[in-house]
Amino acid sequence: MLHIAIVNGPNLNLLGTREPHIYGHQTLDHYLKQLAVRFPFVHLHCYQSNIEGELINYLHNCMGMMNGIVLNAGAYTHTSIAIADAVSAIGVPVVEVHISNVLAREEYRKTSFIASKCKGSISGLGMDGYALAIQYFVDALVPPAV
Ligand code: DQA
Repeated sequence: MLHIAIVNGPNLNLLGTREPHIYGHQTLDHYLKQLAVRFPFVHLHCYQSNIEGELINYLHNCMGMMNGIVLNAGAYTHTSIAIADAVSAIGVPVVEVHISNVLAREEYRKTSFIASKCKGSISGLGMDGYALAIQYFVDALVPPAV
């Protein structure tokens, strides 16, 4: 079975009430439950923290444990060399996800320290970005049945 970590950074625990015109009305818990139904053959490990060091510790704990990581580092995307270094260090493939289109927003959101360390990035496709990232790992990591 594939083990995929879904890692969410600061303020993403407030999804559902946080700026719904940007992030929608769905709570993180509700969406994660939907993901589990959508990918019954994938073991999803969900983690959220508002604290940079805790996110780094979690990424370290993914070493040798996860086949892939879906990472929405929230605002740390634009500030954290330490999280970018963790992504580089752990040797687990990471797909960066943003619910909003960060390139269509403020200038300071246009820099991602993490993007260049990732397999790829999904931005602006709403909560569906997480499902698309998981689907990427399923397609990339599960050998086709013959
Ligand atoms: C975000 C975009 C970031 O710029 C912002 O700080 C977030 C959420 C997104 O998912 O669109 O917290 O990562």
